[in-house]
Formats: sequence, structure tokens, C-alpha cells
Amino acid sequence: MANPAATITNVCEFEEVAKQKLPKMVYDYYASGAEDQWTLKENRHAFERIRFRPRILIDVTNVDTSTTILGHKVSMPIMVAPTAMQRMAHPEGELATARAVASHDTIMTLSSWATSSVEEVASTGPGIRFFQLYVYKDRNVVAQLVRRAEKAGFTAIALTVDTPILGRREADIKNRFSLPPHLTLKNFEGLDLGQMEKTQDSGLASYVAGQIDKSLSWKDVKWLQSITSMPILVKGVITAEDTKLAIQCGCAGIIVSNHGARQLDYVPATISALEEVVKAAAGKVPVFLDGGVRRGTDALKALALGASGVFVSLFSSLRSEQLLFQSVR
Ligand SMILES: Cc1cc2nc3c(=O)[nH]c(=O)nc-3n(C[C@H](O)[C@H](O)[C@H](O)COP(=O)(O)O)c2cc1C
Repeated sequence: MANPAATITNVCEFEEVAKQKLPKMVYDYYASGAEDQWTLKENRHAFERIRFRPRILIDVTNVDTSTTILGHKVSMPIMVAPTAMQRMAHPEGELATARAVASHDTIMTLSSWATSSVEEVASTGPGIRFFQLYVYKDRNVVAQLVRRAEKAGFTAIALTVDTPILGRREADIKNRFSLPPHLTLKNFEGLDLGQMEKTQDSGLASYVAGQIDKSLSWKDVKWLQSITSMPILVKGVITAEDTKLAIQCGCAGIIVSNHGARQLDYVPATISALEEVVKAAAGKVPVFLDGGVRRGTDALKALALGASGVFVSLFSSLRSEQLLFQSVR
């Protein structure tokens, strides 16, 4: 069969092929947003409404896209966002993503809910890696995981703050989504928290309701700082008020994110919230953005509006190694 990757020229086309190749439950989990998916559409539409005002006759013979993120030199201000359960798409899942990201000299953020552990990802070789943290009710679990990530060479925590409960993802409810039984949330395997029950609705929503700490607040950020020396990025901020609180708390940076529109619906597109956050941050900490970034011009728009870098989620990262095409029969 001809390799469909040969004719693909952009990330959106890649999503279309993924839709044909992946089981419906898996594709829907990767692709869907919460409720009416208004914010999902808006994350893209808001980018589409922004226009450039280019200057001309500037020597562009030598263009250098490299930059520094939290002290790490990277080839471009485009990094990989935490994207859970990648082995549902390919047996190598996060390991292949880690190799692809390292070969492009940029940063991978590993999800707490990865289907590969922090140690397995570290064993793929050198690379700059951040660890995304969900805070479980059992703080011993969190402390252990943070220590393991640090030991495995991860250099920052992206603390996700927009998921006290799981967004109402109606496709997952319809499909009765749960992690296929041959896979586990690998970081939690030895802690009896690696499996997800099949339920009448979303198994992931039940897992979150059972394990994730709804009481998470700014005082817990202080607690996290007391157990790790890794810098903490707060992932999920979209207002000036929370930006100021994060800075007061000593966070190392802000990720303007609405979780790819998978949590609270009818929040603004991240690109629309960016200027407010950048203004409130007032240069004290770097501001990053994720949500709807599908092209270089999207990244450029975010940079022009004050972001220090952007993160992209699964579809874009898988594309780096064309995993889907190797994996599907
Ligand atoms: C399939 C999928 C899984 C995700 N898993 C996580 C996760 O485990 N932790 C997290 O903080 N964010 C997670 N996110 C949110 C992303 O990190 C990011 O905020 C968002 O997807 C960016 O928007 P985009 O998908 O439009 O690029 C996930 C997103 C997707 C699409």
C-alpha cells in the first residue's frame, strides 16, 4: 500500500488519515473536546482571525530559530505538550516521541498518564524533558513520582491545574472509553493505580474522580516546591489574576492552556487569552502557549503576541516519526 505520508503536507491532513486508521474509541479520545466543543473550534478560529503586518527588504539569508527555554538551548520555540496514552496509537508510543523530539533538539513533556514510564523514556537517550504532573489525593504517590522524574533526568514540572474533575468529553462517554487492557498508565503500575476500569460511561472520568485531588490550590504549589528543586510551570492559566498568583507563588513560568479544549468549554481560545497573561506577567516569568497550534504561522503569531514558545499535542508530535503509518496495517 502506498505510504499516505508521502502526500501529506500539513498536520491537519495527518489528522484525517489518523481518523481512518485508528479505532474509533482511540481517535475520538485523541481528537475530541469537551461538551459542545466550542472552545475546540475557537482555538483554531482565533488563530485564523489574526493577520500579519510583514516588513520587507530585510536580509533573511541567515535565519536562526533557536532559543533558550528555562536555560535549555533548543532548535526552535516549538515543544511537545503532554499527551496521555500514546501507545494506543503505536506500540512504541512515548518512546518514539521522545526519540523524535530529541532528534529535533527541542523539549518533550511527558504526561503523568503516559503508557511508558519516566525511566523508560529516559532510557531512549539524551534529551530535554519536562514532566507533566497530575496531583493525586495520595501525596505519597505524587512525591514518589516527582522524585523518580527528577532522578530520570527530567528538568521541570508542568503542573496541570485545570483538571480537578475531567471535562465532559461526550465522545468518550458514548464510546465508554477506557485504556485498552494490554496497556497501563506505566508510571503508576507498581502503585496499583495503573489500570482503568471499564465503566458505563468514561472510564477515565471515573479514574479521575477516584484518584485526582479536587482540593488542589495554591498552597499545594508551595508543597510541591518543598519536595523538588525542579522549576514549576503552571499549565492551564488563562487570566491575569491567576498569572499574578502564580508569580507570587514563585512559579518559573506560565503555560496558557485550556487543555486543548478538553476541560471547561466556552473558555476563550488560548491565543485570545495570551495578551492578557503576557501583560500580567510583565516579563517576570516566561509565558508559553498551547492550543490549536498547527502551523509555523500559528507559532509565529503566538511569539509576536509575547509568548516565549509554544507546545503542540499528539498529532503533531507523532508526525515527526510518521508513527501512524508504520503502525497501522
Ligand atoms: C490526546 C490528548 C491527551 C492529553 N493528555 C494530557 C495530559 O495527560 N496532561 C495534560 O496536562 N494535558 C494533556 N493534554 C492537553 C495538552 O497537553 C495540551 O494542553 C493541548 O492538547 C494543546 O492543544 P492542541 O491539542 O490543540 O495542540 C492532552 C491533549 C490531548 C489531545
